[in-house]
Amino acid sequence: MKKEVKATTDLIPTPVVLVTTQGADGPPNIITLAWAGVVNSEPPMVGIGIRPGRHSYGLLMETRAFCVNIPHAGIIKAVDVCGVASGRDVDKFALTGLTPEAASRVKPPLIKECPINLECRLVHTLALGSHTLFVGEILTAHRDEAVLDEKGRITMEKFAALAYCPGVHDYRAIGEKLGRYGFSKGKMA
Ligand SMILES: Cc1cc2nc3c(=O)[nH]c(=O)nc-3n(C[C@H](O)[C@H](O)[C@H](O)COP(=O)(O)O)c2cc1C
Repeated sequence: MKKEVKATTDLIPTPVVLVTTQGADGPPNIITLAWAGVVNSEPPMVGIGIRPGRHSYGLLMETRAFCVNIPHAGIIKAVDVCGVASGRDVDKFALTGLTPEAASRVKPPLIKECPINLECRLVHTLALGSHTLFVGEILTAHRDEAVLDEKGRITMEKFAALAYCPGVHDYRAIGEKLGRYGFSKGKMA
């Protein structure tokens, strides 16, 4: 039997990403986000939800650019640190040991230890209530060769990807492969 509960964001699991921002002056910052997802393919766009109280919010508004850095399981502690400490109080690059790397199209840096990085320019801002939706157009992307197959595609066999489960607040590893797009129609790899 199902139990009806009050309206809530049970879209489980969500991604967990590290978003870098940087103001006009001052050091770059990192924020951990679970409210993130692809929202358009052509041009490629991502949406992220950030509470106005976050330090990252002001930095993003200032330079209207951000990078979405996709972490792997090996840096899970840094992912959590960037979600509990504020750039108002600490330098999260120094605190976590993560390495900033110059981006090619935007001011905020990439995170070297993240195998995938998306450089985004802010194209839409929508205040929704608790969070503001920022839509970023992906201007360029970076893939670490260590997570690519022979065709240059990101392969989950080489990328220890993470997911997040809101509500219980757990980080999870992505598990075994169950099928492939179109397999139900007999489409093979
Ligand atoms: C797993 C996880 C997911 C989070 N997701 C979000 C989110 O989607 N939006 C948000 O505004 N804050 C989110 N937070 C909280 C921020 O990461 C946290 O408040 C952070 O300290 C803000 O950093 P800043 O003040 O340097 O910007 C999340 C935290 C964790 C640990």
